[in-house]
Amino acid sequence: MSFAEYSESIAEGDVAIIYLSHDSMMPVKVQRGAQTQTRYGVIRHSQDLIGHKYGSKVSCSKGWVHVLHPTPELWTVSLPHRTQILYTTDISMITMMLELKPGSIVCESGTGSGSLSHAIIRSIAPTGHLHTVEFHQQRALKVQEEFMEHRVGNMVTVRNQDVCKDGFGVSGVADAAFLDIPSPWDAVGHAKSALKKQGGRVCSFSPCIEQVQRTCAAFTDHGFSELCTIEILLQVHDVRTVSLPVPDFGPNSDLNRDQKRDQNQTQNQNQSSPGAVTIKTTTVPREIPGHTGFLTFATKPRT
Ligand SMILES: C[S@@+](CC[C@H](N)C(=O)[O-])C[C@H]1O[C@@H](n2cnc3c(N)ncnc32)[C@H](O)[C@@H]1O
Repeated sequence: MSFAEYSESIAEGDVAIIYLSHDSMMPVKVQRGAQTQTRYGVIRHSQDLIGHKYGSKVSCSKGWVHVLHPTPELWTVSLPHRTQILYTTDISMITMMLELKPGSIVCESGTGSGSLSHAIIRSIAPTGHLHTVEFHQQRALKVQEEFMEHRVGNMVTVRNQDVCKDGFGVSGVADAAFLDIPSPWDAVGHAKSALKKQGGRVCSFSPCIEQVQRTCAAFTDHGFSELCTIEILLQVHDVRTVSLPVPDFGPNSDLNRDQKRDQNQTQNQNQSSPGAVTIKTTTVPREIPGHTGFLTFATKPRT
């Protein structure tokens, strides 16, 4: 198992994702002899996980769970939060707009909980590299440990320094740079020098419009072009079967006997109860995800 490469079967030392329900998943480190408690009962690693195929259904004493191969998307919804994190809706747009592909060299700060980092690594694998900067020492150490556990450690370098003062620790090598820090405008000059001479793409994520204004001014001052700020709002649709009452318009006197019989037959096929029609439709959830932040993209032209 690796977060960047798929394996068929679960092995000792893997990080597997236990799927309890659509909005409840938990990562487990697979260890011989270990047990994991879930609300559906206990999972015994040696008997229930090791050697079984990813995607298997595991029966527990009070129900069942599925064991899934880890992906950056599943990690994002199950990782232990040490900071606010980026979610897949924003991450997908960042990946596309930064033009990430296998072999890309990327700079990122701050690393935070590593939600975005895992997605970047998967996109640039197997030949790319992520240089990520986090000034909080415990967070830098913890995320480094997770990269090793997830077997992507060879594709990422974590630096424990202040990106605004010390930059990304590399210069003239990056195809793309990403900022998720409170004062991105102070790191724009460092992002510029980390990018290749041929140019590259940058993105800055900020929750407030005042941060966006200062960052855009800094991008312009440093000669970046194609500035563009966007916000992505996700609209989820839940599939529902609903029963709609049919209004009673009284008998249809224009129809002949055969037509009336046909109409009754069709009604019997379509209706769950007389005077109602059952249809499949979608409804929007009561709570919809709101504002996360603005994404500002820019291009460093060839120099
Ligand atoms: C919101 S979190 C980043 C979350 C990350 N994008 C993710 O998806 O998990 C911001 C991180 O930036 C770090 N940070 C803030 N200012 C920094 C700076 N000047 N240099 C390096 N790291 C910084 C913080 O310690 C924090 O961990």
